[in-house]
Amino acid sequence: MRIAIVGVGHVGLVSAAAFARWGHDVVGYDDDAEKVATLQDGRAWFYEPGLQELLDEVIAAGRLRFTADPAEAIGGVEAVFACVGTPPLEDGSPNLAYLEAVARTVAEHSDSDTLLVEKSTVPASTGRRLEQVIAREQTRLGKSLRIEVASNPEFLREGTAVEDTLHPDRIVYGTSSDWARDVLRRVYQPLVDEDGCPVVETDVATSEVIKHASNAFLATRISFINAVARICDQVGADVEVVADGMGHDARIGRGFLSAGLGYGGSCFPKDVDAFAHLARQVGVPFRLLDEVRAINVSQRRLIVDKLRQELWHLDGKTIVLLGAAFKPGTDDLREAPAVHLTRELAEVGADVRVYDPVATAQMEAMFPGLATFDDVTPALAGAHAAVVCTEWEQVRALTPDDYLRALAYPIVVDGRNAHDPDVMLDAGLRYHSIGRRSAAGQAG
Ligand code: UDX
Repeated sequence: MRIAIVGVGHVGLVSAAAFARWGHDVVGYDDDAEKVATLQDGRAWFYEPGLQELLDEVIAAGRLRFTADPAEAIGGVEAVFACVGTPPLEDGSPNLAYLEAVARTVAEHSDSDTLLVEKSTVPASTGRRLEQVIAREQTRLGKSLRIEVASNPEFLREGTAVEDTLHPDRIVYGTSSDWARDVLRRVYQPLVDEDGCPVVETDVATSEVIKHASNAFLATRISFINAVARICDQVGADVEVVADGMGHDARIGRGFLSAGLGYGGSCFPKDVDAFAHLARQVGVPFRLLDEVRAINVSQRRLIVDKLRQELWHLDGKTIVLLGAAFKPGTDDLREAPAVHLTRELAEVGADVRVYDPVATAQMEAMFPGLATFDDVTPALAGAHAAVVCTEWEQVRALTPDDYLRALAYPIVVDGRNAHDPDVMLDAGLRYHSIGRRSAAGQAG
């Protein structure tokens, strides 16, 4: 099948490569000429494990190419996947202007029946709106092609995006005609034959809600366990063991019950807000989601409180943040807890420095003049306290001795429960983590 992908970001580029891998003839389009030029050179413009290898394979096979020309991308394709950003507006609702622009582009450049597929996460009812836009544009242009809208949400995680796409837990798509359903069946048939994953076929609105509800539920689990961790801190329980104990119940499961300094990334913060906004808009406020968000924000405050408990005031103290990316395996800083902490600690006068194995250039671009390190040992040297923000392997591998030798004061606040508290505390560190055994009282 001939397929176009509009927007070659994390979702778009990985999807484009996967579709090509399943034998389709794929063209990736973006209006960012610089990104397109990098891709035309055969290079991924962001870091994602396994992506470069997959691109090499499908580009060499002649099944994936890139263009900055919308007419070239959209003419002659059966399906156009919209993978453009839907960044949050002030009120928490997503900005759908880019998606609307894709609908207009498709109406303008299609030269045969085309299915426009939303892969970007969008509120329910977006599909109907896009169909209206296309109908109006077609009338204006004097065209009458069959252009329908479908929803096919993406569940890939950054850092494991290639693996998630090639071996998904499920495929979900929502369509409003047999024709549209047939197009998507044919897109995914090679994957279903190869991987045997379940397929949920439904209507457009249901598919849109599946995506929002899935992300909101996962974020709720994280905030739930973070709230439990607060209680564990107070009663001397261990939240990791609590999560293990809960996780053995097949109805609960262990996934997304890791306590820490909160979720970040391009999806959870935005999607929780967007779903809450949609709920208010349709007259059924979903207050649980407001609390999910509030708990997430309070986890960062907890880190600052723990630092204050040890260091008294933070003005003039050197704090090293271990990890900047919102999770390991990516250089993405969107809504990363470390980014918020850098800002919040700098505001109270701390001298912040940041270690990250892959994201220092992005941190420097965001915070000009910030001291950043690609290597963890010099980052620790002479700091008054270390805060684990991302559980990179290089951070997990740090021993109590590494900290004791390098830090000016032996203080570690582990926002990802990356270390064993017994090992850290028994070695003499003032070690704090989230909902587990921590250094007692104040530093003496
Ligand atoms: C998420 C969804 O998992 C994915 O299905 C969707 O398509 C996009 O959003 P992603 O944002 O890439 O993926 O990362 P994910 O692995 O889900 O982690 C999100 C955040 O939650 C990270 O900051 C992570 O550190 C945090 N997290 C995750 C926790 O704090 N605890 C957990 O138990 C799991």
